[in-house]
Amino acid sequence: MNMRDVILKKKEGGALSPEEIRAFARGAADGSVPDYQLAALLMAICWRGMTPEETACLTMEMMHSGSVVDLSAIDGVCVDKHSTGGVGDTTTLVLVPLAAACGAKVAKLSGRGLGHTGGTLDKLESIPGCSVNVSIEDFIRQVQDIGCAVIGQTQDLCPADKALYALRDVTGTVGSIPLIASSIVSKKLASGAGAIVLDVKTGSGALMQTVEESIELAKAMVEIGAQAGKPILALVTGMDQPLGTHVGNALEVKEAIDILAGRAKGDLLTVSLELGSRMLIAGGIAKDVEDGKARMRKALESGAGLAKLKEMITAQGGDGRVCDDVDYLPHAAYRISVPALSSGYVARMDTTAIGYCAQALGAGRQKKTDVIDPAVGLVMDVRLGDVVQAGDSLATLYLNKPELAGEAIARMQQAITIAQEKPELPPLIYAAVSREGVTR
Ligand code: URA
Ligand code: CA
Repeated sequence: MNMRDVILKKKEGGALSPEEIRAFARGAADGSVPDYQLAALLMAICWRGMTPEETACLTMEMMHSGSVVDLSAIDGVCVDKHSTGGVGDTTTLVLVPLAAACGAKVAKLSGRGLGHTGGTLDKLESIPGCSVNVSIEDFIRQVQDIGCAVIGQTQDLCPADKALYALRDVTGTVGSIPLIASSIVSKKLASGAGAIVLDVKTGSGALMQTVEESIELAKAMVEIGAQAGKPILALVTGMDQPLGTHVGNALEVKEAIDILAGRAKGDLLTVSLELGSRMLIAGGIAKDVEDGKARMRKALESGAGLAKLKEMITAQGGDGRVCDDVDYLPHAAYRISVPALSSGYVARMDTTAIGYCAQALGAGRQKKTDVIDPAVGLVMDVRLGDVVQAGDSLATLYLNKPELAGEAIARMQQAITIAQEKPELPPLIYAAVSREGVTR
C-alpha cells in the first residue's frame, strides 16, 4: 500500500477502502507508517471527514490493534459508561455503585486526568491504599463477586489510538468528529463491555462547545455501535459550569460519598441518575428510564449504593472507612476563599479555565510525569444564576502551597462573569441520542 496515494485520495475527498484504513491503523500501531504521513492523513480527515462506514471501520481496526478484554466469564450483560470529559464530573463514583447495587454488572476501565478534565483513576487513588492496577483475572473475579470494578486500562489497549492521539494532540487535529468518535469507541469496545452509555459533554468546559456539534458526535458514536453490533446510547449534558461543586481528586471522592450518604444533591446526582437508569435498561434490569431512576433512587435512599462503594474500595485494597467518615481522605493544609469583585448575577463560567485552575494547584498534571496532590483543588460556592455581593466567596481553594493562591484567585475571578442582568440558565440534559433518533 502506498500511503501517499491514500493521503491524496482523502485530500481529494474520497472514501478510503477497508484495506486503506487497515494500513493506516496498523501503521500507526506498529510504527511502519512514519509520523509525517500519519499526520498528513489526520489533517486530510479533519478537512474532508469520513463516512459512517469509514468511521466504523477505523474504530474496529483501532480496537483490534491491541488486546481485547474478554468479559464473557461474567454472568449477564456488562454495562459501561463513558464521559467525554468534564470538570467536577465524578458521575462514575456515584453511578457505578448505585447501578451495581441494583444488580448491574459494571466492569469499567477508566482513564487519568487529561488537560483541564479530571480522571477517575486519579480520584480513586486519592483513597488511602486504593489500587487501580488490577490484573484482568482479578478484575473479572471482582465484578463477578460484587458487581463492579473500576481499574486502569491495560498497557496494550488500542495502541493505534495511543499513537494517533499523541500525534493529534501536537498537530491540531483533535477536533474532528470521526477521529474523536473512533478514538473513544475503539477503547470502549476493546475493554469488553456488552452495552455502553455515553455522556457527551457540551459547553464551556467540554471538548465540543456547541450543542449541535455534541449531538453530531453522539450520533457518530451511536452509529459505530450499530455497525459493531453493540448497543450504544448517548446523553448530551451540560458542562457550562462544573457538574458537581467539588473539583480535585479527594474532594470529588468526598462529594460522591456525600451524595451516596444522602448529604448532598444537585446536578451531579441528577446526571448520575439519568445515565445510571440507562445503564440499568442496557443491562436488562429496568424496563424504562422512569423505572431505572426509581431503582437508582431506592439504592441511594437505602444506603445500598454507599455500601457498594465501600465494598468496591475495600476489594481494591483501599480504606473503606472513608465511606463512613470522609475525614479519612487526605486533607489540604490551607483553605482560601475567592471573593467576588462586584455584585450581580453569576452569568457565565469559563469551565475550562476553572479546570486548569485546579490543575495548577496540583490536582492535575501539566506534564505526563507530574505527580498529583490528591488533597488539593477547589469547591465552588456559587452556581450560574446565583446573586452575589462584592466580597462574597465564589469558590474556596484547597491548597498545600499557599504561594499558589494569588494567581489562582485572579484566574477564578476572571473565569466567573458577574453581570447585572439575570442570565438565562443553560439546560442540564440537552438530548438523548439512540438508534431510534434524537430526543430533546
Ligand atoms: N477522548 C478520547 O479518548 N479521544 C478523543 O479523541 C477525545 C477525547
Ligand atoms: Ca456474559
